[in-house]
Amino acid sequence: MPVPFEMPDGAPPIIPVVVIDEAEKGPALARALLQGGIQAIEVTLRTPAAAEAIALIAKEVPEICLGAGTVITPDDVQRVRAAGVDFMVSPGCTPRLHHASEASGLPFLAGAVTASEAIAMQELGYSRLKYFPADANGGVAGLKGLGGPLPGLSFCPTGGVGAKNAAEYLAAPNCFAVGGSWVAPADAIRSGDWKRIEKLAREASSLV
Ligand code: 3PG
Repeated sequence: MPVPFEMPDGAPPIIPVVVIDEAEKGPALARALLQGGIQAIEVTLRTPAAAEAIALIAKEVPEICLGAGTVITPDDVQRVRAAGVDFMVSPGCTPRLHHASEASGLPFLAGAVTASEAIAMQELGYSRLKYFPADANGGVAGLKGLGGPLPGLSFCPTGGVGAKNAAEYLAAPNCFAVGGSWVAPADAIRSGDWKRIEKLAREASSLV
């Protein structure tokens, strides 16, 4: 059975999704988020620096709940497990990816947006899923719509989620958290503007 995904106890239900170009920026970014009250982070595997950034955060800031995002192959699963992540995120899922993630023993937040995808994941034992790209798939209404026939599933929408609509998503009964890049924008990471990220994190934490 898959390992269930849980937010850390008492954590605000917000998972910043970050893109890191320079690995050494990872720990400072994680500390800024923690200072702002955020307790989880998803580092996307979209840059050459991502795996090293993940390893540095795992070593230097172990108190943050560290996720790797854009995990789409069994090889990605191996790499991020070796780098020390606490959980993995993917925009979707395949049988190969399901087997690799199950074998890793790590919680896996995999994406599903249609009823058939969600039912298939439920059959495999998942109860928490990612909903991506949320806005393009009907937004809050699309997410809530799945809740009627599939009350056993709860989602983390990402993609188009931001300060303006995060609270609306979180009010949906089948939404356990939201994710997005608005808390740690790429330009702020690039320029090392940790104060701005801390402020955005504080604002995001206080949404709930
Ligand atoms: C992503 O995978 O890119 C995330 O969902 C972030 O989307 P956003 O930039 O719209 O927040």
